Amino acid sequence: MIFDKKYKILENRFISGITYLLRFEAPDLRSSPSGSFVMIRSSEDNLYDPMMRRAFAIADIQGDDILVFYDVYGKGTETLTKKKPGDFISVLGPLGKNFFPEHFNDYLLIGGGVGFAGLSLFMKRLKEKGKSFKAIYGVRRKDQLSMLDWIIENNFKDDVVIYTEDGSYGQEGLVTRDLKQIISERKKTALMVCGPKGMMKAVLDVGKEMNVPTFLSLESKMACGFGICIGCVVKDIKTDSYVRVCYEGPVFDGYRIKF
Ligand SMILES: Cc1cc2nc3c(=O)[nH]c(=O)nc-3n(C[C@H](O)[C@H](O)[C@H](O)COP(=O)(O)OP(=O)(O)OC[C@H]3O[C@@H](n4cnc5c(N)ncnc54)[C@H](O)[C@@H]3O)c2cc1C
Ligand code: FES
Repeated sequence: MIFDKKYKILENRFISGITYLLRFEAPDLRSSPSGSFVMIRSSEDNLYDPMMRRAFAIADIQGDDILVFYDVYGKGTETLTKKKPGDFISVLGPLGKNFFPEHFNDYLLIGGGVGFAGLSLFMKRLKEKGKSFKAIYGVRRKDQLSMLDWIIENNFKDDVVIYTEDGSYGQEGLVTRDLKQIISERKKTALMVCGPKGMMKAVLDVGKEMNVPTFLSLESKMACGFGICIGCVVKDIKTDSYVRVCYEGPVFDGYRIKF
């Protein structure tokens, strides 16, 4: 069921880099699937600027609380930073129909930047189910590790290998640096990826080279978030047709999608 409601903000604070953490109380959303997302309207009730809602992954669910990690780029997210605990925000969700597949024996989760927030709830669910997994979290610099506290607080420190491009924290380099070796050390693993387009393409290339299933949680400019506007389409190579990221996704078999 999809809810279109106002929820009370409990926390909305700067974390690091350009990332904020938003926590709101939404009992309706407590059983949202991992990998699903919400569309949030950051404008005031009587104003329509910005007009469109913005899409954000559900990064974690703690009791009745929904956690979203968001990078500030433009008007939508800038306006969102002004919201205070006690304010109400309009949220549509949970959205998406296709999420990370759950039938693999082993998982390698790879998140770039705030894209890690698209994997964190799935990682939590894998751990709860006792599934075998490892995660890789890559950013440019240490100050962009906005989910590091979440990783530590939720006891994932030993499950996540961190890469910074400048070597200021963890391993130095890109998330693809040791990827072939990590894949070959794991038995029949599958890659679940979320992050910037270039990073996802690089990971997909490695996945293809090593013949490993690779699933991508895609981002696209979204106006409606539920399949109506056709604004978020990507090309499905297998069927030679277009699919809506919001409705047929947001997770796709990377082998089918044209970048
Ligand atoms: C399914 C889905 C899940 C998402 N989950 C998250 C999430 O968990 N956390 C998060 O931070 N973002 C997430 N995003 C991206 C987020 O929706 C956009 O960053 C947001 O809509 C930007 O809105 P804005 O008003 O700040 O920027 P806009 O005013 O729309 O854009 C301002 C400028 O920034 C550029 N820009 C906008 N977004 C991005 C971006 N993501 N990367 C680089 N440049 C950008 C635009 O091209 C433009 O030049 C998700 C997107 C989708 C589709
Ligand atoms: S955002 Fe409207 S169809 Fe996907």
